[in-house]
Amino acid sequence: MASATSSNLFKPIQLGNKTLKHRVAMAPLTRFRADDDHVPTDLSKTYYEQRASDGGLIITEATFISEQAGHYPNVPGIWSNDQIKAWKKITDAVHVKGGIIYLQLWHLGRADGVPNVSASAIALPTAEGKEPNVPRALETSEIPQIVDQYKQAALNSIEAGFDGVVIHSANGYFLDQFLQSNSNKRTDKYGGSAENRARIVLETIEAVSNAVGQERTAIRFSPYSHFQDMHDANPVETFSLLTQAVQDRFPNLAYLHFVEPRISGDSDAEHDSAQSLKPFHDIWKGVFLRAGGLTLESAIAAAEKNEKEVLVFGRAFLANPDLPLRFKNGWELNQYKRDTFYANKSPVGYIDYPFYSEKTQA
Ligand SMILES: Cc1cc2nc3c(=O)[nH]c(=O)nc-3n(C[C@H](O)[C@H](O)[C@H](O)COP(=O)(O)O)c2cc1C
Repeated sequence: MASATSSNLFKPIQLGNKTLKHRVAMAPLTRFRADDDHVPTDLSKTYYEQRASDGGLIITEATFISEQAGHYPNVPGIWSNDQIKAWKKITDAVHVKGGIIYLQLWHLGRADGVPNVSASAIALPTAEGKEPNVPRALETSEIPQIVDQYKQAALNSIEAGFDGVVIHSANGYFLDQFLQSNSNKRTDKYGGSAENRARIVLETIEAVSNAVGQERTAIRFSPYSHFQDMHDANPVETFSLLTQAVQDRFPNLAYLHFVEPRISGDSDAEHDSAQSLKPFHDIWKGVFLRAGGLTLESAIAAAEKNEKEVLVFGRAFLANPDLPLRFKNGWELNQYKRDTFYANKSPVGYIDYPFYSEKTQA
């Protein structure tokens, strides 16, 4: 196996209209540290600044595209002027360190804490004795308004200084609810066949990429994840059809990002060992991002095997602000602490993970 420094992991790669200097990217990570108006604070500026590296890619936490897109507290948004201004401070801080930063565009759909909209009126399972939170199935005529919210949020992101946006179509949120067969029972042109279920996703890519350019647009999928009660009857067929349509219609997207089958949302999961990202990898000719349970060793191996891969780290990046440098030097890693992943507005477990040098001096 190649050493870290000589491996492709530390070779440059073109991503959209930017050149990455290495391929150790930070995953989108929800942290609930924005203020009560969904505005990122200086705490988040410190967090992202700490994790920025020269020529390294950061993907932000999932960010609400509109006021209606989600009601979780302390999740940032990108619909108001205050939010745009606050994000601009963050993108500036990342750029000063030579980093590249994409914003993840989020609509919760039925996963919201209050009744929201979805493909069909199918609720997530609830704990015994709790009322199900049944979403309202969108009318066909309402769908363009939501697609338009993605587009406006993408434009706002560019105004806020982001290098690009990634559409969140993974982990059982709004677009995934249309894509996968168990949460979409529609009978209009947005339901039924895989082609119909993929329609809103392709319309969203079209709207966003027409607004900000294909080279500043990306998308994330998790074909095998059962997180948020997702289950497609034929994930290989559904996601291959979609990947092929993206390849045919939007070949210049900055990247496609796939989550490994071994991951369910924010945790490791049992999975069918026959499941693999290979079918989608074989179709997509552009830059391929892969996330889920990666280690330095598996990332080096993946980067050797495929020239166009960028390797994405979630839990390890959260706990190691200097992860690329640690990998490059073979330094040991801090362990993540799950109990502070989602500690609303708290600096603890957010900006206090030590850098390697601080650790050695301590
Ligand atoms: C605390 C936490 C928050 C997460 N939030 C998001 C998110 O906002 N958007 C998203 O697409 N995935 C999210 N994920 C999933 C990660 O992006 C990633 O796919 C997952 O952690 C697996 O990678 P890892 O094994 O390197 O941690 C989250 C994961 C964790 C641990």
